[in-house]
Amino acid sequence: MKNKGSKSGGGNWLSLGLPSIFLLCLFFFLAGFFGSSLFSQQEVSSTLRPQPRGLEVENNQEFDLLPHGKTGEASLTRIPFQILSWSPRALYFPNFATAEQCQGIIKIAKKDLKPSSLALRPGETADNTKGIRTSSGTFISSSEDKTGLLDRIEAKIAKATMIPRNHGEAFNVLRYEIGQRYQSHYDAFNPAEYGPQKSQRVASFLLYLSDVEEGGETMFPFENGLNMDGNYDFSKCIGLRVKPRRGDGLLFYSLFPNGTIDPLSLHGSCPVIKGEKWVATKWIRNQVQDEED
Ligand SMILES: *[C@@H]1O[C@H](CO)[C@@H](O)[C@H](O)[C@H]1NC(C)=O
Repeated sequence: MKNKGSKSGGGNWLSLGLPSIFLLCLFFFLAGFFGSSLFSQQEVSSTLRPQPRGLEVENNQEFDLLPHGKTGEASLTRIPFQILSWSPRALYFPNFATAEQCQGIIKIAKKDLKPSSLALRPGETADNTKGIRTSSGTFISSSEDKTGLLDRIEAKIAKATMIPRNHGEAFNVLRYEIGQRYQSHYDAFNPAEYGPQKSQRVASFLLYLSDVEEGGETMFPFENGLNMDGNYDFSKCIGLRVKPRRGDGLLFYSLFPNGTIDPLSLHGSCPVIKGEKWVATKWIRNQVQDEED
């Protein structure tokens, strides 16, 4: 039976005929051809172009994140920044907010702009300080903004500074029209000039809401100890200058890590020459701020 079966099997195979054998040969030929070309392609890309492949893998690779605490986050945050200066400590955050977010903030603020005021020192009055700060502005807290826009920006500022949100004052949204400026000043309040302070401004975060065609730079005239010979004219636009660009952020520290005021954190807003400057300022304090502040 077995023999008979094998015989008949052999007979069947032979009976496949020439056309079938031809097709089989063609199949193996094509399989061999494409198989080897696939293999050689792999070889080429892994030997001649190892760099892009390596990068690709790295880009796609998820970081091996750690278990986080109750108040932590499960994912990475990427907020690119450039160090503009170490004296004072100033960081630049390109594309911190989107154009739509910036337009949204301007729309909210436009409703109640008032001439900006100054914190006055003894002997100073609104009249004799006229011209130092000529912008218009308004304070808006993130809780007042029902769109949630300021809430998102504030959360991102807290991440960028690692200073809790409740240390921030309400946003001060400012508009500078042509010729308007803010002479060089400190954001921190020197107790020798302003009296004892129960809380101090540690850092300032400026979010530029508009492109300014010309002028309107934020300037740090004393950067790296320059122009500190006592002859500096506080309205002069010199030193490190940061050009406002819509959506970009600027963070600088008014206090040293030891809590004293950094004399190099003196800064101002150069007059707008062409266009209009809109900026949202967040002053961040060393103490928790009350809701009303
Ligand atoms: C605080 O730190 C600054 C900068 O490092 C330093 O120049 C200053 O002397 C320090 N002041 C005190 C009181 O420690």
